[in-house]
Amino acid sequence: MRKPAVPPRGPLPLPGITLGCDYNPEQWPREVWDADAVLMAEAGIDLVAINIFGWSALETRAGEYTFDDLDAVIDLLHGHGIRVNLGTATSSPPPWLTTRHPEILPVTADGTTRFPGGRQAWCPSSPVFRRHALALVEQVAKRYGQHPGVALWHVSNELGCHNALCYCEVSAEAFRGWLADRYGSIEALNAAWGTSFWSQRYGDFAEIQPPRAALSHRNPSQVLDFHRFSSDELLGYYRAEAEVIRRYATAPVTTNFMVTAHIRNLDYWSWAPHVDVIANDHYLDHRLGDPTAELSFAADLTRGLAGGGPWMLMEQAVGAVNWQPHNLAKSPAQMLRNSLTHVARGADSICFFQWRASPHGAEKFHSALIPHAGTDTVAWRSVLDLSSVLRRLAEVAGSRVVADTALIFSWPSWWAADGDGRPSEAVRYLEQVHAVYNALRELGVTVDIVAPGADLSSYRLVAAPCLYAISDPDAAVLTDYVAGGGHTVVSFFSGIADETDRIRLGGYPGAFRDLLGITVEEFCPLTPGTAITLTSGEKAGLWSERLRLTTAEALACYRDGPLPGVPAITRNTFGAGTSRYIATALEADALRHVLREAADDAGVTPTEPCDDGSVEVVRRADGDRRYVFVINHGTDDIELPANGHELVEDRPVAGMLRVPGGQVRVVREVGAR
Ligand code: GAL
Repeated sequence: MRKPAVPPRGPLPLPGITLGCDYNPEQWPREVWDADAVLMAEAGIDLVAINIFGWSALETRAGEYTFDDLDAVIDLLHGHGIRVNLGTATSSPPPWLTTRHPEILPVTADGTTRFPGGRQAWCPSSPVFRRHALALVEQVAKRYGQHPGVALWHVSNELGCHNALCYCEVSAEAFRGWLADRYGSIEALNAAWGTSFWSQRYGDFAEIQPPRAALSHRNPSQVLDFHRFSSDELLGYYRAEAEVIRRYATAPVTTNFMVTAHIRNLDYWSWAPHVDVIANDHYLDHRLGDPTAELSFAADLTRGLAGGGPWMLMEQAVGAVNWQPHNLAKSPAQMLRNSLTHVARGADSICFFQWRASPHGAEKFHSALIPHAGTDTVAWRSVLDLSSVLRRLAEVAGSRVVADTALIFSWPSWWAADGDGRPSEAVRYLEQVHAVYNALRELGVTVDIVAPGADLSSYRLVAAPCLYAISDPDAAVLTDYVAGGGHTVVSFFSGIADETDRIRLGGYPGAFRDLLGITVEEFCPLTPGTAITLTSGEKAGLWSERLRLTTAEALACYRDGPLPGVPAITRNTFGAGTSRYIATALEADALRHVLREAADDAGVTPTEPCDDGSVEVVRRADGDRRYVFVINHGTDDIELPANGHELVEDRPVAGMLRVPGGQVRVVREVGAR
């Protein structure tokens, strides 16, 4: 059974490639606002997100609303031709609300209350919070619902960034209700959660708790369902705000997602159909192995959520953030590269947090379009440069990224595969997904990221890394795709459990044994840092498994380690297609090698391979309009064949395109207009 693909999104509310930013005028005296509006207009800012954290300014006491300042800001911006992305102001409750209703505060798994003083201090299931928040949303929507300056509605802010998992009594009760709806009977829940283990059988839904901190590992199926519940609770909250807005307004409604490294508790595949515009916040995270590759991954995943249509980068930083251990600044060239990588991968809007660097508060050391030093700065000039480049790229808006390879990404697999009591703590879902994605990126293969069960028929090759927990129908989509002539690469710890985290018996990987033509008796993980060698001479680590071939052939076996002679990489002919299996964590070269062979078999068309990921080449097209983005992250100049018109520098290209180290070029290819 194929799930319908996520519907492709249409054009964004504003034409061209929108440039925007968050603006927090409540932090500044009025005289600064006028100057800001002038500067914004000069800089070509199209869209400004305001009122994101406005609650304590708008509702100074319960039920007492003051809109004078917000009226003035919206009118001022509108008067300068700048449209507004209007926040509902509900992301952080004001002190009077948490003082009067401390029961809305979130509680952690060990029963600790998270107090106000930071932000997002509210329980997603709290009816008290929701009542107050929706009353405010109604006021805002009624007042500005028909204002011509409002181009977009911005519900709350990064829902679930801090408060996704709440273990308070109110959440516990809501969890019980969610479970009763999901399972219908307590017997069905007992079966799904395997509660015969450790004497956990429930006689009634009333006995169920959220998976609070326990003395030992908690029931993994309960933990998995708590993740699903928590994602659904916040989605329900989002939908409640959106419903109020839609009563008064016609502009599209969105909220800013944060895929993938930072918000892991929301299954955005289930959110995507409910937002009018897909918007993502992305910050380079220098704690990750390859922050630039992760940017590309996040952009491709966001495009997947938009069904391949345009999406907005709602926030990024001009320079450093202030919430990592070491907050690295960006050069202007890097800022341009980051921005245009998002555009290359489908963003039709580039926005920043925030307009002016705050003089106080927890983010006073966060970069901004206007830093503390003012406008005579590298940062400000880099924004002006970006603005001019985005104007020249306006014609790219609406075109679609060209990809013939897909990668299946699953939040439930992430939650379950990284759970307690697994074979190796060193195997982490996101790292394994990134490894496969990065190898494809280095091979010059542009990847669409899709949900489990999504229609795969338009792809030549499908990667399924670490797809640990999968339902029968979703597994069947991959199997049928290959049987019908598709090609897949599956990596270890895939197809192990069903959607309740119950192991599929009879030999791993239960969901994909036939597809892959193998059966695995036992996992044999390795101590981190231990290298094993394959018969091909290539290196691997972290994981191995006692694997037997049924119909597959071995492409490489272990030469040493715990399982010498056992197959480590296999290939199977299945129906009209082929499937490869990677039973260990291959080093980058070896992983690229397997994926290159799979891509060749599948007839994938790579753009410009570059083994270290220092050059990205991505294509966008719309009918006869074709664009190629070349992003040179390296220091050396590169040259590649191209004909047409280069848009960043606005000059013709005949035969050969030169891209200096650190620069980006975008060519409208010949015949394209
Ligand atoms: C985002 C958030 C903004 C700001 C920014 C700083 O996650 O939405 O409000 O905190 O991070 O990087």
